[in-house]
Amino acid sequence: MEKIKAGVIGATGMVGQRFVALMENHPWFELKAVAASARSKGKTYQEAVSGRWSMNTPIPEAAKDLVVLNAVDDMAELTRHVDFVFSAVDMKKEEIKALEEKYAMMECPVVSNNSAHRWTPDVPMVIPEINSRHIDVINHQRKRLGIKRGFIAVKSNCSLQSYVPALHPLLRFGPNKVLVCTYQAISGAGKTFDMWPEMIDNIIPYIGGEEEKSEKEPLKLWGEVSDGVIKSASEPAITAQCIRVPVSNGHMAAVFVSFIKKPSREEILGCWNDYKSGIDSLALPSAPEKFLYYFPENDRPQARLDRNLEGGMAVSIGRLRPDTQYDYKFVCLSHNTIRGAAGGAVLLAELLCAKGYIKRNGE
Ligand SMILES: NC(=O)c1ccc[n+]([C@@H]2O[C@H](COP(=O)([O-])OP(=O)(O)OC[C@H]3O[C@@H](n4cnc5c(N)ncnc54)[C@H](OP(=O)(O)O)[C@@H]3O)[C@@H](O)[C@H]2O)c1
Repeated sequence: MEKIKAGVIGATGMVGQRFVALMENHPWFELKAVAASARSKGKTYQEAVSGRWSMNTPIPEAAKDLVVLNAVDDMAELTRHVDFVFSAVDMKKEEIKALEEKYAMMECPVVSNNSAHRWTPDVPMVIPEINSRHIDVINHQRKRLGIKRGFIAVKSNCSLQSYVPALHPLLRFGPNKVLVCTYQAISGAGKTFDMWPEMIDNIIPYIGGEEEKSEKEPLKLWGEVSDGVIKSASEPAITAQCIRVPVSNGHMAAVFVSFIKKPSREEILGCWNDYKSGIDSLALPSAPEKFLYYFPENDRPQARLDRNLEGGMAVSIGRLRPDTQYDYKFVCLSHNTIRGAAGGAVLLAELLCAKGYIKRNGE
């Protein structure tokens, strides 16, 4: 079967590199174009990432000799070579918003890792195992923009990719109050220890904009499509503190939760263990076989041991126990640049293909 042609804008950055790495041997997608800023334009991909390739696999052969385009100025050329693009550019929010909309208006679907369009009401923000039904809002977005093939779909912030999956199967018990502290890896800031030596033996108690995202985005994920837009859920109330810790990859969250109908510990463990998502029957190549893993050991999950579970696409949970102020507390972990960034976006693109929203040009 002919593969679907993918492009990456922002391909030279930390998340962009992960997209490029994930395209290698992908069964459905083939990397056909890469773009970044004017600084990288005209270089081969290999030259453009020289000295800053930070994946632990080599640069894929298929990417090495691609000539990097300018994501802003060479849009027409780029869209001629691809069926859709992944977006991982780092620019001002309003610039990213306009750029992604321009790609969509050129009838090129955009699957974005960026936050710029997360609050555009008819842009679906999706964790495929949780709210795959939201992608139908794309029909309303296309109508608003007057386009047929293009659209924008986004993934949610990396900070919440562990605790929203853990809370989601418990929604039937009415979680109404959640307190979460996240302990976030330095790759979430696009950094390695070489680039950010100040993080060695250090903790920084502030990540700009992260707490607001961690509190608000879950409510859009749990919202409903109504009148052509996504209306956010009103509960649970979430309060968050987000802290940068000296870990290369893997965001941990410590969660405290109260419910309207308090479940037993066994019921919670059963919900996690038996969780079936709406995408299980679609056989998406990047979907983990099992989405949620509970570790009974007191010292798990750990970033180094568990972040790569199921290729970094599974979520691990541990230390479920009663709390004195809330009903329960637990910890959870997800790989921030795989599940929390490029891997989550690739899974979303697979879902959009399976549901007919991304097609080969001309189909
Ligand atoms: N790192 C994570 O785990 C993570 C997680 C979730 C979301 N995000 C978000 O994802 C985006 C990318 O993050 P990152 O960590 O990969 O950033 P990064 O390493 O700084 O990479 C930024 C990319 O954007 C390109 N770029 C910068 N200015 C540009 C311009 N004016 N025109 C076109 N391209 C431009 C860069 O190209 P050059 O190489 O040519 O400069 C590079 O390819 C950011 O918005 C970030 O907030 C990151």
